Amino acid sequence: MLRPMTKWTAADIPDQTGRTFVVTGANSGLGLETARRLAEHGAQVIMTARDPEKGRAAAAGLPGSVEVRTLDLADLESVARFAAGVERADVLVNNAGVMMTPRRATAQGFELQLGTNHLGHFALTALLYPVLAAGSAPRVVTVSSGLHRRGRIDFDDLGAERSYSPTRAYAQSKFANVLFALELDRRLRAAGSPAISVLAHPGYTATNLQTSGPTGLLSLGGRIGNLLLAQHVRMGALDQLYAATAPGVQSGEFYGPANLSESRGHPKLVRPVRSATDPDTARRLWEVSEKLTGVPFAL
Ligand SMILES: NC(=O)c1ccc[n+]([C@@H]2O[C@H](COP(=O)([O-])OP(=O)(O)OC[C@H]3O[C@@H](n4cnc5c(N)ncnc54)[C@H](OP(=O)(O)O)[C@@H]3O)[C@@H](O)[C@H]2O)c1
Repeated sequence: MLRPMTKWTAADIPDQTGRTFVVTGANSGLGLETARRLAEHGAQVIMTARDPEKGRAAAAGLPGSVEVRTLDLADLESVARFAAGVERADVLVNNAGVMMTPRRATAQGFELQLGTNHLGHFALTALLYPVLAAGSAPRVVTVSSGLHRRGRIDFDDLGAERSYSPTRAYAQSKFANVLFALELDRRLRAAGSPAISVLAHPGYTATNLQTSGPTGLLSLGGRIGNLLLAQHVRMGALDQLYAATAPGVQSGEFYGPANLSESRGHPKLVRPVRSATDPDTARRLWEVSEKLTGVPFAL
């Protein structure tokens, strides 16, 4: 049974004084709103941005204790450099993402959407794990999408060398987020780790995502959708804020908006598509991710 929740808002975030959060992609959209709300509630926030200028401009308007550090998830050297500089973290919010871009590659030559949204966060989580495990009540929050439901992992053509579709590559990357977070949950439990792994998705929220990645008709559709259908980022960020801060959140849970087929509303416990809960597929993806990133993730 999915338990009903009251209409949780950012005002319900408990005091986060003394807790350190790393939020990826924090210069824009959901990441910026997440950093803002966490800082308002006393957290120390490490805002990451691939462009430090954009990061500093975004952080300038925030209250509380925030600092900006450079992290490009599409470059594993940047991921390693960033992770090596983090001395303390209690919560990692794997938020950054790109959507429906034309075919492009990361610095190491992976298809950009899987490379940024999944592989970069896989390596980041692995490299930060020792620091997180030493933190207090550690959490890893991974931001997926309702579109994970349309995804599958094409292990025979992971980088879409044979055929590339911007929407299929995005759905694959967001499906990978779910497989990863649920496999992380299983491995944390098996290892008796204090850390938990939680998923969130923001429904349909007006951000730069719909216009910065897609081109042509997809971009036009994104602009119109943002005007007519999307919810405000204040609402969209609640799911990941809930996953990151609410007491009683359990490892392996997934939070998304309550209304209109999970496209808008206050956070509620949601279910991933069944195929994304398959442990064999998740184990295989984990092994492939270790191999592709060259980052072993042993717990
Ligand atoms: N908005 C929605 O309706 C929606 C729906 C489902 C899921 N999501 C998920 O929500 C998350 C946040 O997206 P958003 O809607 O807030 O979009 P956004 O406003 O475009 O923010 C995305 C953030 O990710 C950063 N980013 C992109 N590529 C990066 C890289 N290589 N390295 C580091 N950071 C990188 C962006 O940096 P730049 O500013 O430099 O580009 C930006 O800070 C994503 O994971 C997305 O898949 C969003």
